[in-house]
Amino acid sequence: MSTLLIKNIGLLQTPTGSFSHRGRQQGENLKLNDASILIRDGVIAGITDKGRLPEGAEDTGAAGIRVIDAGGSLVTPGLVDGHTHMVFGGWRQHEIPLKLRGAGYLDILRAGGGIMDTVRRTREASFEELRDKTGDFLDEMMSLGVTSCEAKSGYGLDIDTELKMLRVIKALNDSHPMDICATFMPAHAVEEKWKGREEEYIEVCCKEMMPRVREEKLADYVDIFTEDSVFNAAQSEKYLKAAAQQGFRLRVHADEIAAIGGSVLAGQMKAASAEHLIVIDDAGLKALAEGGVTAMCLPATSFYLGATFAPVRRMIDEFEIPVATATDFNPGSCPSLNLQFVMNLGYLRYRMTPEEVLTAVTVNPACAIGMGERTGTLEAGKQADIVIWNAPDMETLCYRFGSNQARIVIKKGEIVKCN
Ligand code: NIG
Ligand code: FE
Repeated sequence: MSTLLIKNIGLLQTPTGSFSHRGRQQGENLKLNDASILIRDGVIAGITDKGRLPEGAEDTGAAGIRVIDAGGSLVTPGLVDGHTHMVFGGWRQHEIPLKLRGAGYLDILRAGGGIMDTVRRTREASFEELRDKTGDFLDEMMSLGVTSCEAKSGYGLDIDTELKMLRVIKALNDSHPMDICATFMPAHAVEEKWKGREEEYIEVCCKEMMPRVREEKLADYVDIFTEDSVFNAAQSEKYLKAAAQQGFRLRVHADEIAAIGGSVLAGQMKAASAEHLIVIDDAGLKALAEGGVTAMCLPATSFYLGATFAPVRRMIDEFEIPVATATDFNPGSCPSLNLQFVMNLGYLRYRMTPEEVLTAVTVNPACAIGMGERTGTLEAGKQADIVIWNAPDMETLCYRFGSNQARIVIKKGEIVKCN
């Protein structure tokens, strides 16, 4: 049995419970001063405060317990990045001059660039190349404090490449310390040969691709890009209904550029999460609240696209929608996997409190990716997924930006990064 004690924690801050936090709960964190955490076999065994040591940890030296001294700093749950497109071939740095000359995200996509460019590069890449590249991303994410994440397919758009991407995710989930939730997203763009025949492509996704993914147990969730000149609301509804019938849980990229009904659909279909929501209207907000859908807001994408920011204050205060914030890491609209930067933007642009920010990068995304029972909070019985920060409190963490403030990252009781 391996036992680890983290002591001298200046401030232990965490949401509590294994459910999505909405409204006032979004800003409710447990705060303990001069705390300790005892970990046995990768699981949190006990937490104490006021300088007391957890039961069974009083005689540390003699019992051979490994001890980490947190040096009086802030300790939180490991971060959870609930939305990424981290498996892809190539990059898209060549798009920036076009964007700076005024080309929009959808203009580039319509001209066969953007996502389609990454599709070509991902088809060309071997399983091994994608696995190694994505494994490096996971290492970098962990060094930034992320201990669980989501990863989507969607740069294949044909069965072989989509399966290749999902197999990469599965292989890494099995071999890398990161816990990864896979989302199947063949409806991410419309390839030239399907233009004007989107319904037929949706049929292929539902009748040919989804059953294969189910058979190989490669994903529990599906996602679709419901957007102007990508998939409309009617096509999205067909796709989501077929997915639900096959036992998938749902996500929708909705209201990123145009509000064409994506969030209303996500609410009606009781999706696990709705993504982006930059231009969501009141009907969409109401639908998400009624459907119990987590708003997966992606402020680094707003920053990178030069777009406005999702109305997160209204989501929390008026509509009581659980809010999660994630990177959206991808080679086009957000080539950054830094969830700490997302926390800065959550604080400064969404105007969330530091407590709300913490909930948005821990328990809420954990629940939205099906991991809420095992991670996302610091409580006895949960996985010991923990970050010791180079900061005394959440205010400092949300205020400083551009440096990696994670000092020690622990996954299932093992130190995975010591910066
Ligand atoms: O969530 N908007 C659609 N999909 C991704 C971007 C993918 C890409 O540009 O490669 C997103 O931002
Ligand atoms: Fe996305």
